[in-house]
Amino acid sequence: MSKALRYLAAARPAAATSLLTFYKESVQALDDKTRCLIQIVTKVSVGTERGLRQYAPKALKAGASKEEILDAVLMAFPAAGLNKVLDAIQVLRDLDLVPEVEGDQKQALPDSVLGNVEDFPLQKMTCVAYGDGNLIVYRASEQNVKVWQSRCPHAKTSLCEGVDHGQQVECRVHNWVFDLESGACTEPDPQGKPGLFPVSVVVEDGLVRVA
Ligand code: FES
Repeated sequence: MSKALRYLAAARPAAATSLLTFYKESVQALDDKTRCLIQIVTKVSVGTERGLRQYAPKALKAGASKEEILDAVLMAFPAAGLNKVLDAIQVLRDLDLVPEVEGDQKQALPDSVLGNVEDFPLQKMTCVAYGDGNLIVYRASEQNVKVWQSRCPHAKTSLCEGVDHGQQVECRVHNWVFDLESGACTEPDPQGKPGLFPVSVVVEDGLVRVA
């Protein structure tokens, strides 16, 4: 429940109860996935980023694919217009909720030096601003440096905001834990869960450089 709705529930309990009952009881025939996809269409149409951030992960959780989420955004086009659709796509790209386009990520990332290898403490994650976002640098041993995109492969948020457990990082949103040397999800129940997105780097002349 949003803070505003919580306020309304305290300030106008009868009205808030009726409103919440309406939301709960009015939609009977649609399954969760369809409901969330329709919510995406409406959120894009009215241009509410907060609503989109709320319902797109719910749609994924309810079984929608990233392709279906993209289709829902495009369904809003006649009502929303191009700008709102493009804004929504940017939000969903940041959340990794639309399909990757091959080669797109590479083009977005400039060739760059991330830092001196000695600048990165051993067995500890370091976040480095890069391109439009952040990268996680993990120096497993002297010259063994692993670099990962910071976005959580589950649904959203930057793992740079996560809990640093040394060799592991824990996402603050749903508490998935990732090993920073292998990139694999280790908790909870790692079976079938995606790992971190790798960034290939080289260590040359004492510098860590995106390959
Ligand atoms: S967004 Fe769900 S675990 Fe990170």
